[in-house]
Amino acid sequence: MIVCLCKGVSSRTILDEARRGACTLKQIRQSCQAGTGCGACVQQIRQLIETVTPRHEHHNTPGPADDR
Ligand code: FES
Repeated sequence: MIVCLCKGVSSRTILDEARRGACTLKQIRQSCQAGTGCGACVQQIRQLIETVTPRHEHHNTPGPADDR
């Protein structure tokens, strides 16, 4: 299903990006351009990100995104 009509980005693409580490709206915008147009899809993108990265998962385990 297309989530972002402006950029033609599907929910599948957004979920893929989220699984690859794009856990914020900003990162999704950078990785696949979704949400960079009219902004109508932003809420939906947020919800998709949340299904991949639940909010309570913020503990101190160093992951691949550990940039020093
Ligand atoms: S529908 Fe995604 S930016 Fe317009």
